[in-house]
Amino acid sequence: MSAVDVGVALLGYGTVGSSVHRLLVESGDEIERATGHRLRVVRALVRDPSKERAFPAGEGVLTTDFAAIRDDPRVTVVAEVMGGLDPAGTYVRELLRAGKPVVSANKQLVAREGAELFAIASAKGVQLRFEASVCAAIPVVKVLRESLVVSNVHRVLGIVNGTTNFVLSRMERGGTYAEALAEAQALGYAEADPTDDVSGADAAAKMAILATVAFGSRVGLDDVETRGIDEIEPAHVSAAAELGTVVRLVGIATLVDGAVDVRVQPALVDRSHALAAVDGAFNAVMLQGDAIREITLEGPGAGGIETASAVVADLVSVVGTSGTGFLQNDACWRELPRLDPGAWRSPFYVHLEVADRPGVLAHVTSRLAAHDVSVAQLVQHLRDGEATLDLVLHEAAQGAVARAAAEIATFPEVLRRPFLAPVISERPL
Ligand code: NAP
Ligand code: HSE
Repeated sequence: MSAVDVGVALLGYGTVGSSVHRLLVESGDEIERATGHRLRVVRALVRDPSKERAFPAGEGVLTTDFAAIRDDPRVTVVAEVMGGLDPAGTYVRELLRAGKPVVSANKQLVAREGAELFAIASAKGVQLRFEASVCAAIPVVKVLRESLVVSNVHRVLGIVNGTTNFVLSRMERGGTYAEALAEAQALGYAEADPTDDVSGADAAAKMAILATVAFGSRVGLDDVETRGIDEIEPAHVSAAAELGTVVRLVGIATLVDGAVDVRVQPALVDRSHALAAVDGAFNAVMLQGDAIREITLEGPGAGGIETASAVVADLVSVVGTSGTGFLQNDACWRELPRLDPGAWRSPFYVHLEVADRPGVLAHVTSRLAAHDVSVAQLVQHLRDGEATLDLVLHEAAQGAVARAAAEIATFPEVLRRPFLAPVISERPL
């Protein structure tokens, strides 16, 4: 088979961009054997061409001039690996309008501006792919869009942020939050601004994309109930261990009676649950649907070369289906209502720090009972006239639990704001 040269341009040549180039060079023979095409990076957009690069870009490849990429007739397909909304969004729109297919690793762009970008791609008949924007190396978008197209997926449960999973795994082994985050940044897992990781914003964008694709209905970032890991303390991690669970930042997207609920929050995951074994910067996504029952995909969820593998897979798919694919079409085909977030049901964990006085426990449990919330498990520790109470509650509506916790927080014997998290377990509580 004789090779056909395909000119590739990269918007961005940082952690991911330089790794895409490395893979295209080092795996060029494998790609050519599989596809008959030789993908060559001919241009890469950067801010500062004089910077030292992890993998050399080659003579004349780096440019600061976007138009030189858009108007270069050698460029057949573009990978957007620069991040941010602007100018990345403007550039992607211009490229699609110019008839150039784009693959993007930018979850914020796809989650916020996907509808408009897909409309342009569809009008121009060019592909827009975004596998690398969710869970790096794990091909979950492809599985949802192509393999499970008739599976009626109604629940997506996932660990979708590598940085926070790395931090929480390290804290379990006794590391501090600050040390673990610094290590994740040094390893290239974290976003340019790691606030997006620890606040849950990165995971929220990924869950918005996954829910949109899984349910065929647009889920915006504002539709995702989001909490990060910045409120997690070593006391929560050790209490979770005592209850036979681990703390993880979990994304949950559910179809409840035709209404959509999407949330990202710290959760206590039972040790026997598949998500509890997801360690370090790994991600996992469980897909539950009518025909498939449950499929779990697990793999590296962050990192340059790991993300680049998904970018390259999308580039290869674009080349292989050029002009004929259905993936330039928006995955949305219906408009489903949002579930009232307070109506979402789960077992919950509550951590309380209280004064060790007679009647405190009764006071707490009677407030829970007033909201029809029942205690399944309780661990108490006493120290210096204070007590920590770690309660696991039977399944209840989130609104009822939150209202009870807010009332309990006002008790004079409650010393600090209660910490609340859902519990994920296959065991009955
Ligand atoms: P990065 O290392 O910061 O690289 C960003 C690149 O884009 C740099 O080469 C930078 O140029 C260039 N760039 C940024 N703004 C620019 C502008 N206004 N004009 C021209 N060039 C610009 O980021 P990254 O970690 O590779 O991430 C890139 C994208 O992949 C992001 O959307 C991120 O969310 C996504 N992603 C990252 C990972 C990961 O593990 N790192 C995983 C999945 C998805 P200079 O080099 O000259 O500064
Ligand atoms: N910062 C992201 C993470 C990179 O830690 O998961 C992958 O999108």
